[in-house]
Amino acid sequence: MPVRRADSPEEWLAVCYTDQPIITQLDDGDGNGRGYVSSSASMPTTVAMMLDALHLDAGMRVLEIGTGTGYNAALLASRTGAENVTSVEVDPAVAEAAAAALKATGWPVRVVTADGTGGHSLGAPYDRVLATAAVQRVPYAWVRQTVPGGRIVAPWGTVFHNGALLRLRVGEDGTASGHFGGNVAFMWVRDQRPPHGVVREHVRPEHDYVETTTELHPYHALSVFDASFAIGLRVPEMTSVVVYDNDDPHGGAYTAYLMDTFAGSWASWRVGTGARSYGVRQHGARRLFDELATAYAWWEAAGKPPHTRFGLTVRPDGQTVWLDHPEHPIGSPSDVTGSARRTAATHG
Ligand SMILES: C[S@@+](CC[C@H](N)C(=O)[O-])C[C@H]1O[C@@H](n2cnc3c(N)ncnc32)[C@H](O)[C@@H]1O
Repeated sequence: MPVRRADSPEEWLAVCYTDQPIITQLDDGDGNGRGYVSSSASMPTTVAMMLDALHLDAGMRVLEIGTGTGYNAALLASRTGAENVTSVEVDPAVAEAAAAALKATGWPVRVVTADGTGGHSLGAPYDRVLATAAVQRVPYAWVRQTVPGGRIVAPWGTVFHNGALLRLRVGEDGTASGHFGGNVAFMWVRDQRPPHGVVREHVRPEHDYVETTTELHPYHALSVFDASFAIGLRVPEMTSVVVYDNDDPHGGAYTAYLMDTFAGSWASWRVGTGARSYGVRQHGARRLFDELATAYAWWEAAGKPPHTRFGLTVRPDGQTVWLDHPEHPIGSPSDVTGSARRTAATHG
């Protein structure tokens, strides 16, 4: 329900002071009506967690990616000085409104309209880089533009799991490394958005499928934060959508869909009321449920490590995810093999 300051100032102010993310733009402002969130003021407790992770001191030079409303830029400026903060926003209308709000409230930080995945080299080097839009791949420009010993804090996720807070330190050798820590779900930077997984577009009645059963309940893989995070590390380009019977999330019956967002493979994972085993259908070249189940088994065999035991290293040529230590990369997802128990032949 939209709330406009001009229509109901008290309600608007009350919404501003809730500990919730506040949506401020849909669909990149193009009015196409699909309803995908494209700009927001982040949830205040998440903002606080990210500022805390930044270890910001007075006088430090900061680059923020994703100006949004400008609220976080003002908080950064209050700590380190407005002259030390540069904030990059990809959307011209959002950037213009934020720059005006920042000026009007006495925090005239530099707002740059650009794709922030390139950083902002004119203001470099920075002591701190803070992304307030999520990435799947940390742009090396952020590392290059940060001083050795500086910090980069960014929401990081996979197509399957969005996401965890990544806390990097930049080394003398031109790499950046650090652990994940914190449950944060953010909109993606624009050029790293995965396609939206729309079930009716992916799962067609004419598709054939292989049917199996499993005793793995979707809850364990989709809703347990650390399991889901680990699965996303191992299974590339797979998204999930849960569809409740009769649109009733309390009814107990639903189907979880797994979809390859870039090709045609899908799996459905059916939970009926009272059932102890769950029907799985898989269509396409990838056996997505099998990939998920293998990744889940890998996570279980590793002792169910929390996301905070994982970390990431960024080099000029890419990034590597590791467990506990950079010398223990988690390996390529390509070694994932099938594990579902086949109980029936192909249908279709
Ligand atoms: C969650 S909002 C940021 C919240 C903001 N920090 C605040 O205090 O209101 C994410 C913002 O990132 C912007 N964004 C997305 N991709 C971007 C990119 N590649 N470069 C810069 N900004 C980007 C979006 O337009 C959106 O305004």
